[in-house]
Formats: sequence, C-alpha cells, structure tokens
Amino acid sequence: MDKLVIRGGNRLHGVVTVDGAKNAILPALSATLLTDQTCVLRGVPKLQDVYTMVEVLANLGCSVRSDNCSLTIDAGAVKHYQAPYELVRQMRASFLVAGPLLARFGRASMALPGGCAIGPRPIDLHLKGFFAMGARVSLDNGRIELTANSLRGATVYLDFPSVGATENLMMAASLAKGITYIENAAEEPEVVDLANMINSMGGRVSGAGTKTIRIEGVESLKGTTHEVIPDRAEAATFMIAAAVTGGDVVLKNVIPDHLKAVSAKLREAGVSVEEDGSLIHVRGDKILKAVDVKTMPYPGFPTDLQAPMMSLLAVCEGTSLVTETVFENRFSHVDELKRMGASIKVEDRSALIKGVTQLTGAAVKAADLRAGAALVIAGLVASGVTQVTGVHHINRGYGDLASKLRALGADIQGEASP
Ligand code: EPZ
Repeated sequence: MDKLVIRGGNRLHGVVTVDGAKNAILPALSATLLTDQTCVLRGVPKLQDVYTMVEVLANLGCSVRSDNCSLTIDAGAVKHYQAPYELVRQMRASFLVAGPLLARFGRASMALPGGCAIGPRPIDLHLKGFFAMGARVSLDNGRIELTANSLRGATVYLDFPSVGATENLMMAASLAKGITYIENAAEEPEVVDLANMINSMGGRVSGAGTKTIRIEGVESLKGTTHEVIPDRAEAATFMIAAAVTGGDVVLKNVIPDHLKAVSAKLREAGVSVEEDGSLIHVRGDKILKAVDVKTMPYPGFPTDLQAPMMSLLAVCEGTSLVTETVFENRFSHVDELKRMGASIKVEDRSALIKGVTQLTGAAVKAADLRAGAALVIAGLVASGVTQVTGVHHINRGYGDLASKLRALGADIQGEASP
C-alpha cells in the first residue's frame, strides 16, 4: 500500500491508544549495545524505523527476538563495529550506535548519515563530543571511522541542544573513565527515558531533562527490562486531527506533561483539551481561531508537530505565523497544502497562513513522515477525496495511522498504486 485515499468531512470520535515512542525506542535499541547481557524492551511500536534499527543490530551480531510489543536483544555476540553503510544512509537515527560501539569496543565505523527532506542533518556536535572524550575521528570513503583506546570523561558544550548528540554522548560517557558533563543538552522526554534505561543498567546519569547532564562512567553495564515512554508526536497528531475535524476523542497511554506546548496552543485556538492521568480528552466543537506557532527545542512547541499543526491553522479563522527554528527547511508540506486550497506564504523559516473556510481534496505527496501526517489531517477535513502518496514516509513513524483513524470514524483507505 503506497497511497492513502481519504474522503473528508467526518468528525473523529472515540478512543485511541498511543503507541510507544519512536524517538525513545531507537536510542533504547542502541543502548542495548552497551552490555553483553540481555535487554528486554517493552512498548515497542510497529514502525519501519524500528525494523531498520533491529536490522542494524542484527548486522552487528546481536540476537534479536520479537514478541508482540517487546524485543529481547542480546549484544553479547557483537563481533564487529561496522554499521551497515546503506542502513545508516537510509536512517539517520542508526548513527546512534556510534556512542555505544565506541564505549564498549573502542571502535565504530559507519556511513555519514544522509541528509533528508528536512535539512542537511550534520553530526558535527556528535563528533565534537567523541573527540573531547579522547576518540580519534576520520572520514574514509564516506565512512566515519571512530577509534579510542579508552574514552575519558570530558565537559562538552553543545552549540545547539541536539537530541541525537545528547543521546550519543550520554551513551558513550556511561562507560568512559571519569565524569562527563553535557552542557546545553537537549531536554526532550526521550533523553530522560534513555537516561532512565542506562541507570537501570547500573549507569550513573543525573540531570537528564535539564540543560546540564552529568554522567559518571562505570566499568560495565548489565542487562535490563525497559518500557519506553508513549509517543508524544503520535499523540499530538491525533489531538490535532480530532480538533480540526470538530471531533471528540479520548487518547489513552499519554503523558500530558510531555504535551504541554501542544495542548496550550490548541487551547489558544479554541480547542477543549482536558487532562486526566494518562488520558487526554480533545473536543473541537468550537470555531477555531488563528494562533502563532514557533518551534523550539523541548519544552517549546515541537518541530515534529509543526506540519500537522499547519493543516489545522490552514482552516482557522484569521492569519497565523509559523516559524520553524529547529530545521532549515521543514516546509515540504506547504506546496502540497496549497494544492488543497490553503493560503500560505513562506519567507525563509516563517510561513504566513491565512485561514480558508474549506480545503478541497487533491492528489498530494508526502516528503517526510510529519509532512505526510499533515497531508492526511488536511484530507480528513477537506471536501471531496484526497490521495496521499509517499506513504512509506508515514509508515516510518506511525504504526498503521489509517486503521487507527478509521476506528475513529475517518473515511480513509490504503491502496496500492496500479
Ligand atoms: C531528533 O532528531 C528526532 N529523531 C527528530 O524526529 C526531531 O525532529 C529532532 O530530534 C528535533 O527534536 C529521533 O529522535 C530519532 P537534532 P535529531 O540533532 O537528533 C542540528 C521525527 O519526525 N544539528 O536535535 O537528528 C540539526 O541539523 C524526527 O520523528 C547540528 O547542527 O535532531 C538540526 O537543525 C525528525 N549538528 C538541529 O540540530 C549536530 O551534530 C536539531 O537536530 C546535530 C544536530
């Protein structure tokens, strides 16, 4: 199935359960390389990116067993440190094996992660940290070669609070000799979740979730069982879809605290968002008002929800200004939304959205997973039929989005192109 066909106009209603977080399970899978004992990961979402990361681990020599929503990984048999070139090019997150391989084996070799539709995606901050910890870094034939006799603690200042760099350096530091401080660290919940997993393995990480993380290296780490946090990006996608369709949806398996920026913006737009423990109840029964959105590192408004939110702003009353401060060009959804009648003007990293009363269905193409989610949301509220291609991008980060939306009353079907 590489096309989604959506007939707009249905209000979403009912209950949806959010899966485990893609951006937590990927670093957690990498962290299993830090020990020669067995790790069990729970709450594993069924996503293409998870299958890719499992393939990377298996390629390195790990044994991986899958049982419904859990994975059992044994990295005791890891024989080499060369991550498969094509997989690292294909999925940037596979670069997260660099830190653990370097920490455990003193070697890591992998392709330069490719850029993608949302920007060049450099790794200079990762390499700056590895170098500070005593690693030697070289580039041969498109492969990054990292070597270190033994990693030592260091103080690393991140010029940008990079999520991946914070996670990679935290993992490397967990087995280094001495104490590492990561300053201007990313504060995302997925960073905290990784720190909790490392500590459950016998690690000594403190300060995760703040701008300074302290990691005291230990001799070795043991196996663990770890359940990843719920996916705040998936949750927010459903909140926005419920709001824009004038729906009434209860989300289960969420951590409301991780969604404060999104909930605040939706309330500002006139959406009812009620929190109750691990539930969030969203009702979009009022006219929605334009709001300005500026993406920022956590706890600011998440860049991953900028595109889905723009589909809602496209049909709000008034004019909204969206500013994308995290990635260079994360507006690939704009031209596609304009095919559906949205009125959007982009200047550099800002987009001015003049709300229209109605979007109309069209054939549109997803260039990345969150842009794909935005186009599906637009299709839910457009008149007529919308066909979204590039579904493989969506499947990287959403476990069967179409069936979850159908269960909420959406008229959406997956189709194979002729
Ligand atoms: C993580 O990507 C997420 N992916 C992304 O989610 C998310 O959008 C991003 O963090 C920001 O929150 C995973 O966790 C697997 P960054 P990551 O390093 O770690 C620059 C999704 O849709 N930068 O925080 O790659 C970089 O160019 C995905 O689920 C450097 O300059 O993001 C970007 O402009 C998309 N040098 C900014 O920092 C570096 O060495 C943020 O990147 C590293 C990053």
